[in-house]
Amino acid sequence: MRILQVSAEIFPLLKTGGLADIAGALPLALLAAGQEARVLLPGFPAIAAGIVDAQPVAEIVAPWGERAQLKLGRIATAGAPDIPAYLIDAPALYDRPGNPYEDAHRQPYGDNHRRFALLGWAAAQLAQGLDPAWQPQVVHAHDWHAALAPAYMAFAPRGGRGARAASVFTVHNLAYQGLFAGAHFGELGLPPAAFSIDGLEYHGQLSFMKGGLCFADRLTTVSPTYAREIQTPEQGFGLDGLLRSRAGRLTGILNAVDDQVWNPATDPLLPHRYEPRRMVGKTRDKAALQEELGLAPLPDAPLFVVVSRLTEQKGLHLVLGGLDALLAQGGQLALLGSGDAWLEAAFRERAAAAPALVSVTVGYSEPLAHRLFGAGDVTLVPSLFEPCGLTQMYGLKYGSLPLVRRVGGLADTVVDATLEDMAAGLATGFAFERFDAADYERALRRAFALYRRPTDWRAVRTAAMRRPADWQTAAAHYLDVYAQALA
Ligand code: ADP
Ligand code: GLC
Repeated sequence: MRILQVSAEIFPLLKTGGLADIAGALPLALLAAGQEARVLLPGFPAIAAGIVDAQPVAEIVAPWGERAQLKLGRIATAGAPDIPAYLIDAPALYDRPGNPYEDAHRQPYGDNHRRFALLGWAAAQLAQGLDPAWQPQVVHAHDWHAALAPAYMAFAPRGGRGARAASVFTVHNLAYQGLFAGAHFGELGLPPAAFSIDGLEYHGQLSFMKGGLCFADRLTTVSPTYAREIQTPEQGFGLDGLLRSRAGRLTGILNAVDDQVWNPATDPLLPHRYEPRRMVGKTRDKAALQEELGLAPLPDAPLFVVVSRLTEQKGLHLVLGGLDALLAQGGQLALLGSGDAWLEAAFRERAAAAPALVSVTVGYSEPLAHRLFGAGDVTLVPSLFEPCGLTQMYGLKYGSLPLVRRVGGLADTVVDATLEDMAAGLATGFAFERFDAADYERALRRAFALYRRPTDWRAVRTAAMRRPADWQTAAAHYLDVYAQALA
């Protein structure tokens, strides 16, 4: 099957969150399954620099008249075949330093509707045969940035070369919808019928997310539980009615973990490697990290780690509020994250007050993230909502037991260490129900109680590390969805 994946980010070239990890791993899994996968990406500087041998394929003219070059090159990946990659070379739109979505003052760029409409437009052009050498059968668009692809495809003129391509749209996070002033609709080159309640119109505004949700042949999201949650008013962000009406076409497919990147037995970013039957490397990683971060060298203090965007979604005020309880029970905390200024400041203050027990690194660092999972005993992910969540899966794989709120993909990946689930060998971490301090702190106490029972701790940790999270399985689910979309 010829599959074109469309996304704004891709690991290892450009990443602001989990979307990039998935966008990087899925094409590799599809290629490994014998499919013809290619990706389409905007020409952000980091992406343009990372695509090798880029050759011009065609010129694209955006609906508002702007011209761009479509190029084809490849992304070289260690230990795997290269990913063929189309690049939209449009420096006036994409060649800006820093964050792909926001300016230096963290404000969304004023022309984001054009920057990301062009991504969907180019995908639809490819679906209609823009590259005579390769025409996709399925266009798989990710999140609002790529969500106009299905809309452009649905309104494309019929006929032309080959069969009509099918479209699949994946929601990674319904909270980010790509909302713009309705006045911009005229620039998009879609017929007036597309700006209706059954289309891009959202309370008078223009919603890119709705473009994907209304017009894609099939919808997926990144965990079965989130697929149900987004059909409720509590988590539907105003789109639950639409999602309920398309429930028959919506599937939750749990994200997987890229073993080439996240595997403690082979991870080159860890000072010491380890596996379930030889855990001494993890003990050494913890000592090394304590030293690196200036934490007290306490081998028996459970080390809690956080690797996260610092936003409301992630529930980190619970970690702040519960920090005294965590320290009083003898734990340490190491956090890596960036985001909301108030959370950055609050965590920094706590680290300054107790540097031997609390370490806070504000910023973004892929290598430090690996070292944190490698050293940690517990990974904290107390999210308000979580479509899938990857850090708890990395925590599982690295034996840094996840402590999570039972929501979205967290509920689908972590089994609480109750006595019955420990006895059955199913427990892999700690999960709490209500989004409040009391429930979070009860889960913390559960983690400390288990930590004081080393045999049980090791059993749960082994189960966590062995939990399957392979891309082969996830890719097979996507292939089923592609086949349904084509049928
Ligand atoms: P989300 O996509 O909502 O941010 P996920 O858990 O799905 O949440 O994915 C987050 C990804 O970003 C993970 O790969 C995580 O390791 C990474 N990450 C988050 N914050 C940082 C950071 N400050 N430094 C390095 N990696 C980070
Ligand atoms: C989003 C979600 C996160 C998910 C990631 C990858 O960023 O917030 O839960 O894991 O996408 O699908």
